[in-house]
Amino acid sequence: MVKKPKFQSPTGMHDILPEEQKYFQRIYKVSENIANFYGFKKIDTPILEETELFLKGIGIATDIVGKQMFTLRTKGGDYLTLRPELTAPVARAYLQHGMFNLPQPVKLWYFGPCFRYEKPQLGRFRQFWQLDFEIFGEKSPLIDAQIIQIFYNILREIRLKNLIIKINSIGDSQCRPYYKKLLTSFFRSREAALCSDCKRRLRENPLRILDCKEEKCRSLISRAPQMLDHLCEECHNHFREVLEFLDEIELPYHLDPYLVRGLDYYTKTVFEIYEESETGRTQGALGGGGRYDGLVKLLGGKETPACGGAAGIERIIGVMKEKGMKFLESAPPKIFLAQLGPLAKRKSLKILEDFRKQRILISESLGRDSLKAQLSRANKIGVKYVLILGQKEALEDTIIIRDMATGRQEIVKLEKVVKEVEKRLKK
Ligand code: HAM
Repeated sequence: MVKKPKFQSPTGMHDILPEEQKYFQRIYKVSENIANFYGFKKIDTPILEETELFLKGIGIATDIVGKQMFTLRTKGGDYLTLRPELTAPVARAYLQHGMFNLPQPVKLWYFGPCFRYEKPQLGRFRQFWQLDFEIFGEKSPLIDAQIIQIFYNILREIRLKNLIIKINSIGDSQCRPYYKKLLTSFFRSREAALCSDCKRRLRENPLRILDCKEEKCRSLISRAPQMLDHLCEECHNHFREVLEFLDEIELPYHLDPYLVRGLDYYTKTVFEIYEESETGRTQGALGGGGRYDGLVKLLGGKETPACGGAAGIERIIGVMKEKGMKFLESAPPKIFLAQLGPLAKRKSLKILEDFRKQRILISESLGRDSLKAQLSRANKIGVKYVLILGQKEALEDTIIIRDMATGRQEIVKLEKVVKEVEKRLKK
């Protein structure tokens, strides 16, 4: 058995190797195009934030805050946390930089790593990447539908099919307290049947029980009262309009009356997008989000309606790989530079630079001295022409152009080589 090297990447965190980069680049490109089309501006925030931002923003009773944060204490005694998500940091930046003074809505997008201390498993890592879209300062239900449409379009453009949107409304400060009371009394009378986490949730925030994945809790949840039956008039109308807009753009959705999402800042609309895998394997939601009209105020700002969503890059890549998605490979170079002797080697760097300036791809194997080894490499790449700079040519400021198909060789002036090659490539 091969011995593992002593140092491995930390549990649940992975390297993004060169062969993986094409997936990231594809998702980034598609997201960037869609962001530009819908008028979103890119933002980046620090990897670390004050721990209190997440305690306040995401909510103390959530699993993310209660169990999944990587928190450290600085030498100065401050508590900082590796961001488990991007909405609270972006809302913090919106406030910090006075973006509420800009014409509203302010639309921001993001592509970056997040950290959650989770039990690593399929589609669940401790460092993972998110792509995130947020809209601040707009209360129209049209925005909720547009955010869902954006994530749906991104996934479709990456060529994922069989997408399912789950949607629900979890009300607002008008109607949710009453619903929470109903839930509390429903679960209190059945407390013995709940898992130990849900017993705690019952005291802290009964809505969190609806998010529990334990089998014994799931069967109770399916009989619990539903928020949709208890929405106030405003939330009811808002949700109806969101669904009408989704119908208008013909997005397929399922009402999921028990979808609450794992973060406390949501109000009204919440959604998640899944891919129905042909193999039946499930790695959780590809993306999710919703409206969070109370977050900016909670963080110290004015009343600011907002809505957004995020998708998990590794989970999207998981589906892309499962489907065996192909990428257009970039064209290999058609030219190879072979050199022989110290003077030729020295002149090689300048020649490569001349080709780069002219945007002609050229390959080399400067570390090799034997002409045979260099030609064999050129053959492997399958180039059309090899440029041979031997000792004699280097002294005379000339170079040989060898046509690999015919074996014909011509000597040209070194200063003209780029032009000569360009001429031949155009033939
Ligand atoms: P979230 O549902 O916690 O929402 O995460 C969004 C997506 O990130 C998930 O649907 C999933 O694809 C991915 N994800 C989450 N945890 C992991 C993990 N441990 N490993 C791999 N992928 C993961 C949010 O974070 C909200 N901030 C979304 C939002 C934006 N709401 C409003 N604006």
